[in-house]
Order: sequence, then C-alpha cells, then structure tokens
Amino acid sequence: AQAPVIAIDGPSGVGKGTLALSVSQAQQWHLLDSGALYRLVALSALRRGTALDDARVLGETARHLPVRFEVVQDQGVRIDLDGDDVTRAIREESVGEAASRVATLPTVRAGLLDRQRDFQQAPGLVADGRDMGTVVFPDAALKVFLTASALVRARRRAAQLSVSEDSAIFERIYSDIIQRDERDATRATAPLKPADDAVIIDTSELGIEQVFDRVMALIAERR
Ligand code: C5P
Repeated sequence: AQAPVIAIDGPSGVGKGTLALSVSQAQQWHLLDSGALYRLVALSALRRGTALDDARVLGETARHLPVRFEVVQDQGVRIDLDGDDVTRAIREESVGEAASRVATLPTVRAGLLDRQRDFQQAPGLVADGRDMGTVVFPDAALKVFLTASALVRARRRAAQLSVSEDSAIFERIYSDIIQRDERDATRATAPLKPADDAVIIDTSELGIEQVFDRVMALIAERR
C-alpha cells in the first residue's frame, strides 16, 4: 500500500505552512511545501528573464527544476536551486506574486505533478498547498482545508512585518491578499477550493496551537 498522506490546503496567510511543519514533526512524516515549488519556478523565470506567461518554457522549467530539499536539524528545510541556497530568496513578496502567476499555467502544474507525488514515501507525508486534496493526492487519508477572512490574514501578515493597521502599507497588504485569493480561486486549472471530503477549519478565531490540537485529534480519530 502507498504511504498515507495528510493534505492541508487553503489560501495564503492562513497558517498552513506552520501547521504542516508541526504536524509533520509530531508524526515524524515527510513534508511537502508545494508552494515552494511554484516559487522556485517563478524565481527561475525572474532570474532568466523568461516571460511569466510563457507556458511552454515554464512547463519545461517546472519539469526539470534542479532543486534539492535538505532537512536541517531544528531549522526546517534548506532549499537549493542548481547549487544556490534560495531558502530566503523564494520568500520575497515579488517571488510570491510571480508564483501566483505561473501557477495559473496548466503546463507548469502538469510539470510539477510527479515531483510532488515523489514526496509520498513511508512512513507518511504531510502536504501543504492549494490543491493537495483535490488534484495531487485525491486519496489522502485526511484532508484539512483552512480558512480565515482576508482581513484576519492581512492583520497576521502585518503583525509579522511589524506594520501598523492604519498605514498605507497595511492597505497594500490587504489588497494584495484579496487579489491573490481571486487569482487562486478563479483560475481554470486546479482552482483553490476544498475537496468534497475535506474538513474545513476556520482559523479566524483560533490560535496556532488550537488548530494543531484539532488536526491531531482528527488524525487520532481516523487511526
Ligand atoms: O503557499 P505559497 O504562498 O508559498 O504559494 C505561492 C503561490 O503558488 C500561491 O499564491 C499559489 O498561486 C501557488 N500555489 C498553487 N498550488 C499549490 C501551492 C501554491 O497554485 N499547491
């Protein structure tokens, strides 16, 4: 039998990454941060000057991405692109923005499919993204879909950046989140939506630990 998968999907800024990391550590399972793959395609394109709508070239980029994920004890995952440490570079706002554009291309999504499925290895996998439960791992043992209002997510992001809520930067963060949600939800291929069998958790009123406890309880129930 194939190794079990826990799929964690939802919009940006909802806390998927933090949750996926802590669940993978608690379970001692592998971790797939699928957003990082889209960010890597975007970074490659930006560095090479490839147009962000060049479906053919970007599909090839996705298929042949020379990436290595290396688990560094107590620090998380180090990401290496063709010999270059890009762990921080891919987190830049400009790269996230470009990632959400290249992610609309079916060639890119198809090019990343097998790479994502390669992460499904014993004893199990925790996968975070937008379409883990709907497209990449439709047979996942547990599918969690996190939501939170755009305003709550903007506030969390602002707090991370120490930006005050009555500043122009806050308005910008808020409108970027709304725009990116819109692009993720309306694209033709693999739009952001919960799988029919996903458990939906609204994190607007919950702390990180409460969400973690709820997911661990779901895992225990299904054992
Ligand atoms: O989650 P993260 O912000 O790193 O993802 C970057 C972008 O990649 C998202 O805005 C989204 O458009 C895209 N993405 C996707 N499918 C996934 C993961 C990320 O389309 N499974």
